[in-house]
Amino acid sequence: EKGGYDYFMLKEIAEQPQAVADTLLGRVGPDGLLVLDEMRLSDQELRDITKIIVVACGTSYHAGLIAKYAIEHWAGVPCEVELASEFRYRDPILNRDTLILVISQSGETMDTLMAVRHARDQRSRVLAVCNVNGSTISRESDAVLYTHAGPEIAVASTKAFLTQLVACYLVALYLAQVRGMKFGDEISQIMARLSEMPSKVSEVLGTVEPVRALARSLAAERCVLFLGRHVGFPVALEGALKLKELAYMHAEGFAAGELKHGPIALIDKGLPVVVVVPSPVGQRVIHDKIVSNIQEIRARGARTIVIAEEGDTAVEPYADTLIRIPAVPTLLQPLVATVPLQVFACELAAAKGHDVDQPRNLAKSVTVE
Ligand code: F6R
Repeated sequence: EKGGYDYFMLKEIAEQPQAVADTLLGRVGPDGLLVLDEMRLSDQELRDITKIIVVACGTSYHAGLIAKYAIEHWAGVPCEVELASEFRYRDPILNRDTLILVISQSGETMDTLMAVRHARDQRSRVLAVCNVNGSTISRESDAVLYTHAGPEIAVASTKAFLTQLVACYLVALYLAQVRGMKFGDEISQIMARLSEMPSKVSEVLGTVEPVRALARSLAAERCVLFLGRHVGFPVALEGALKLKELAYMHAEGFAAGELKHGPIALIDKGLPVVVVVPSPVGQRVIHDKIVSNIQEIRARGARTIVIAEEGDTAVEPYADTLIRIPAVPTLLQPLVATVPLQVFACELAAAKGHDVDQPRNLAKSVTVE
């Protein structure tokens, strides 16, 4: 049933191109516009929205952090992202014009479900991005956009995460469309780029062998740091979470711009630091800033592991290990940049002899608070 792979996680990582393709399937109508039948909220309701709050836990929360960039950039709607376990226990200001976007692979996570109930009590509209058909969260929400990742067996989320990103991009683009953002042409261009993503993800999967070797060489390390900026920041958080849960190592993700506000004190001789570099074309300014962040940490002895687009030569002098990913539009980069980090965590955990599919102390779906 593992299809020849040693672990479900490896199988699910390999299924990502298909999962992304399946989640994109049939979303564009004959007129070139997006059709999201499952939205079940009228276009007028979507036009009336004044604020979006994305609520989720764990890896799904990281998808939400990335969704914020897409929603604000494409749809121009103010967007906050909150951990479900925090959302419930403050007094969020909600009303009918607030859209709660909940993201949950299982659709059963207790904190996320409680957030749905709380939001609906306040008369907010709830749109759920779920992977499991008919799950409690999908039943209790006003609308559901299903991800088509197929069953995810490994406890650590991989293919569900990529499909959550796709679903969030679709929501952002759909909102842009119904709210008449002046970029009709751009929507079809972005959809065209999104439809290329399955093959871009395959491309990355074809080049991860050196990442596996790198992971094995780091099995005796105690700590790994992850840095990113813009959408690379949530990717860094996700890379760190995967490593914690699978390899039981101290791993932390930071916004690279925060380094000098504290984390740089952690940099020690030989400390492995993974840096997710944004496109030099799409994000020149932050690209250059992150290159200087890499120089700073390397000057302090860090062992730099740099994930950068093909053709980005500026990073070469400062990368102890360079992991190449295909050039894609900035907002879509997490779809390719996350993949080497999944492989890295999986391989490192396997090298340490851990049960990759069933990490200690964790459950696939957290139905207790
Ligand atoms: C990490 C992981 C968890 C889940 C979290 C939310 O690899 O799998 O962090 O993402 O428990 O689960 P769902 O998405 O089912 O609500």
